[in-house]
Amino acid sequence: MRPTERAGTAARAAVVCGLGAWLPPTVVTNDDLARRLDTSDEWIRTRTGIRARHVASPGMPTSHLAAEAGARALESAGVHDVDMVVLATTTPDRPCPATAPVVATRLGLTGRPAFDVSAVCTGFLYALATGAGMITSGAVETVLVVGAEVYSTILDPADRSSSVIFGDGAGAVVLRAGHRSEDGAVGRSELGSDGSLADLITVRAGGSEQRSSGAPALPADRYFSMWGKEVFAHAITRMAEATRAALAGAGWHAADLDRLIGHQANVRILHALGEYLDIPRERLVIHLDQVGNTAAASIPLALAHAQSTGELAPGARVALTAFGGGATWGATTLTWPALKTV
Ligand code: ACO
Repeated sequence: MRPTERAGTAARAAVVCGLGAWLPPTVVTNDDLARRLDTSDEWIRTRTGIRARHVASPGMPTSHLAAEAGARALESAGVHDVDMVVLATTTPDRPCPATAPVVATRLGLTGRPAFDVSAVCTGFLYALATGAGMITSGAVETVLVVGAEVYSTILDPADRSSSVIFGDGAGAVVLRAGHRSEDGAVGRSELGSDGSLADLITVRAGGSEQRSSGAPALPADRYFSMWGKEVFAHAITRMAEATRAALAGAGWHAADLDRLIGHQANVRILHALGEYLDIPRERLVIHLDQVGNTAAASIPLALAHAQSTGELAPGARVALTAFGGGATWGATTLTWPALKTV
C-alpha cells in the first residue's frame, strides 16, 4: 500500500448523517400504574425521575418500532438504501431468527446483511461500535444502527419494582464513511463486560441454560428481573470509567463537554454520574421523565429528543455512555453534526 492510501485509511471514520426515533402512541403515566399496583406517582418520580412511558399495543413487535425509527433515520440522512443493518435489542421478535433481517426487509433493504446485537441497555453503543468498525475497516460505506425495545412484553405486570421503570420505543442513526475530522465522526468506543454479574439483570427462562436443565421454567423466570440497588452502584462506576476513557481517547477534558448523554435508567444515576465526572446538571440530557428506561433504545431516543429541543447544536461536543445487563458498559464521543430533524 502506498503511504497516501495508508494515511487515507487511518483517517477514515464512521460519520453520523441521519437520526430518527419512534415511540408507540399509548402513554402510561405514573398515576395509571398506581391504579393497578401498590405504588405512587410520588415514589416513582422521586426514586427514578420517571413521569410516563410509552407502551406498544398488542401485535406491535420490536421489528415494527425498529422499522419506524429506521425509516425516519433514513429520511433524515436523505437516503433510501444502506449497506448493512445492525439492530440492538433485548426483546427480539422471536428467540430465533434475529429481528434485524425483518427490519431490513420492512425498509426495502432485502439482501443487505442484517444482524442483532445483544448487550441489553448498552446494546446501542455496542451496535454503534460494530457499525462504525465495519465502515472504518472499509467493508461497507453506510450502516443503519437501530436500538429498539418492547420491554412491556417481558415485564411481570404484578412486579411494581420493574413495571414502573421500563418503556417501549426505538431510535436509529445512519452512519456513512467520512473523515475523522468531520462533525459527526464517531470516536473510539470504550466497551466492557463482566459475566460474573449476569444474575443482576436477567430473564432466566427460555434459553439453553433453562431448557437443558430438564426442569420446566417457573412462571417468574419468564419475566425480567433486576437487583436495582447493586445495578445502581455498578452503573455509576462503570459509566464514569468508560466516559473518562472515551474523553481521554478524544483528547477532551470533562469541562470541554457540551452534553453528556447517559443511559436513561434513573435520574439519580445521571446526577451522580455528573458529580463523579464534574459535569454540571445543565449539561446532562434527561429524557427518561417522558419515556422511562427504554434499554437499547435509550441513547438514540435521548439524541433525537435533544436534537429536537435544540440542546444538541451542530459543533457541540458530546459523550454517550451506558451500562446494562451482562453486565456490559461503554462510552464514546462525537462532535454533533448538522442533521435534518424528521
Ligand atoms: N413503588 C413503591 N415502592 C417500591 C416500588 C414502587 N414501584 N418499587 C420498590 N419499592 C419499595 C421496595 O419494596 C423497598 O421497600 P422496603 O424498603 O420496604 O423493602 C423500597 O421501595 C426501596 O426499594 P429499592 O429497590 O431499594 O429502591 P431503590 O431506591 O434502589 O430504587 C430502582 C429502585 C429505581 C430500581 C433503582 O435501584 C435503580 O434505578 N437501579 C438501577 C437501574 C439501572 O441503572 N439499570 C441499568 C440497566 S437496566 C438494563 O440493563 C435492562
